[in-house]
Amino acid sequence: MSVYAVIMAGGKGERLWPASTPARPKPFLPLGEGGETLIQATYDRVLPLTGRERLYVVADSALAPRVKAALGLADSQLLVEPQGRNTAPAVGLAALAVSLVDPEGITIVLPADHLIEDEEGFRSALEAAAQAGGEGHLVTLGIKPTSPATGYGYIQRGELLGSAHGHDIYKVKRFTEKPDEETARRFLSAGGYYWNSGIFVWQAARILEEIDRFLPKLSQALKGLAGLWGKPGWEDALRRAWQEVEAISIDYGVMERAEDVVVIPVGFGWHDLGDWQAVWEVLPKDGAGVAARGEHLGVDTARALIWVRPGKTVATLGVSDVAIVDTQEALLVADMKRTQKVRELARQAQAAPPEWDKLLKLDTSGMLEVVAGFPDQCRRGLELGEEVDLPPGLSGFSRVVCVGMGGSGITGDLLGRLLSVPVVSFRGYRVPGYIGEETLLVGVSYSGNTEETLSAFQEGLSRTRRALAISSGGKLRELCAKRRIPWIGIPSGYQPRAALGYLLFTLLSVLRRLGAAHLDLKEALEVLAGQAKALGPGSPGNRAQAIAQALAGGVPLIYGTNGNTGPVAFRWKTQINENAKQPAFWAELPELCHNEIVGWELAERVLPGGRVVFLRSGNDHPRVQARIEILKEVLLRRGLPYLEVEGEGEGEAAQLFSLLYLGDWVSVYLALLNGVDPTPVRPIQELKERLAQL
Ligand code: PA5
Repeated sequence: MSVYAVIMAGGKGERLWPASTPARPKPFLPLGEGGETLIQATYDRVLPLTGRERLYVVADSALAPRVKAALGLADSQLLVEPQGRNTAPAVGLAALAVSLVDPEGITIVLPADHLIEDEEGFRSALEAAAQAGGEGHLVTLGIKPTSPATGYGYIQRGELLGSAHGHDIYKVKRFTEKPDEETARRFLSAGGYYWNSGIFVWQAARILEEIDRFLPKLSQALKGLAGLWGKPGWEDALRRAWQEVEAISIDYGVMERAEDVVVIPVGFGWHDLGDWQAVWEVLPKDGAGVAARGEHLGVDTARALIWVRPGKTVATLGVSDVAIVDTQEALLVADMKRTQKVRELARQAQAAPPEWDKLLKLDTSGMLEVVAGFPDQCRRGLELGEEVDLPPGLSGFSRVVCVGMGGSGITGDLLGRLLSVPVVSFRGYRVPGYIGEETLLVGVSYSGNTEETLSAFQEGLSRTRRALAISSGGKLRELCAKRRIPWIGIPSGYQPRAALGYLLFTLLSVLRRLGAAHLDLKEALEVLAGQAKALGPGSPGNRAQAIAQALAGGVPLIYGTNGNTGPVAFRWKTQINENAKQPAFWAELPELCHNEIVGWELAERVLPGGRVVFLRSGNDHPRVQARIEILKEVLLRRGLPYLEVEGEGEGEAAQLFSLLYLGDWVSVYLALLNGVDPTPVRPIQELKERLAQL
């Protein structure tokens, strides 16, 4: 008789908000006795009974990657539900999985979010339950009640059937849903009532029989899925089936109605940790009854729970009976006796989607409209490039050196990705000594007045006669006229970063004519036009808005890849800086695997708002893609949230520009969520003005 275990990784833990959130639900709270997460403690506790091969975890698709990374599960151990449908479908799925390898297999089903003090006692009770399950019973573990709690269902025992491993086994007389306090008191004084632990043991085939009897729709769905187990088509079939099956608990759906249900009374120090008061009860406390996780300074403080994130201190003076929970997202200060009601706050905190219509009014200078016009700018840029007068003698260069800063300077980086000759980008007052006649020098300054660019361009002109410049006017234009150098004029009136379509595509077109680019930009332009529609304000299911929401309140860490999406990651960072007026950082793979990832170790303490964004493109080296997969697991283990954004289209240019354009939209929506007008960049202007006075 082989014993299997199935851990149900659900458990929203709304009453443990703000530590428990949809992205980091209760099983992931470090409430284990040794500070490990509850799900890890559950896994470790049951492992000696089953071994790894017979231990499964059921999780919904949103949580599954996190569960897998946290527990280091093999794919075969993870049963992924498309979405949670309460416990009966999850139990059914697990029973199906076990029955396909071992129909007689005894299956322990247990939640991932309980704390158990006496682990040996726990395993001994499960051994007794496994024996009873092997005899065909449906077994529940009933917790001997210590108070008239109203938060649990109760099980009333009937006749004694026998015993196993020193544990009595009773027939179940009745299940009662969570009672009121008076009823609970009556149960306690009558005796013979136990709290329903939600831990069940049975043969896989037996519970499938009962599901067939009481939940025929679920049973039918499971039968339909049986033939597809481990085959292509499984996921689609499961998704369809899970849309149809009833979301119902196994208690209500089966256990309360089935014959032959038995209960084994247990008392192994079981805690459901339902709310902060329950957490306070189990944590070690000082003489005044203060339980602190993290740094706490207290004067005249009694009976308090203090839950602080690393790197912060909570100080309290003259308070008692209070729960204080501080996280990146929120600070909770609650009367300890009323922590049951925290759920209401958790729901309020979630139920407030941004009011985009109102937020759009912050965009007084019309940045959204300019961003929407990017594809047109690109098209127009290509045309402008065709119209430029190019003197003979410009072509024949073996490298391009671009000088430019900020919103203009990015042009050089992007050209480096797109040209068929090497491109070096310089951001400063000087150019390197190696520039000679074989170099094409390109000055890029939207205003034409940026002092670093003018200085570097002038220095470069002393080394090569192959040169051209692009601006909307300014001193760069005058300089070019004086030195008889081709100058490309583009429309004025934009912010430099918002004129990228003109800067980049005009130059691309010119450089194509000079033989330095062989790009087909048709697909890229089509993809951009599609994005302009899909990402504009008011577009349903707007991906840019969703990403902005995921980044809001945090510090984006944008990760691109060397030789591919690196410059795009940099553009995301700078656009978030200038539009959303907030810090953001960027790095490139694979280099970041050699340094940045070590910095993640203390990220929770020093950068609790860190949010990683992986820019994904099909053109990345397979080993880089493999690295990203590993990094995702590391991030999950470290509790650092990440998201992945994929480029659109097939070709390199489409992938690159679609990622770039998405970032532009995201930065503007993030500005609105930050409550700022995306357009003005006062600190840049002020600095330029002060420098001009020197
Ligand atoms: O976005 C901005 O406003 C800045 O980053 C500018 O691009 C930067 O200061 C350089 O100015 P310009 O692009 O006019 O050369």
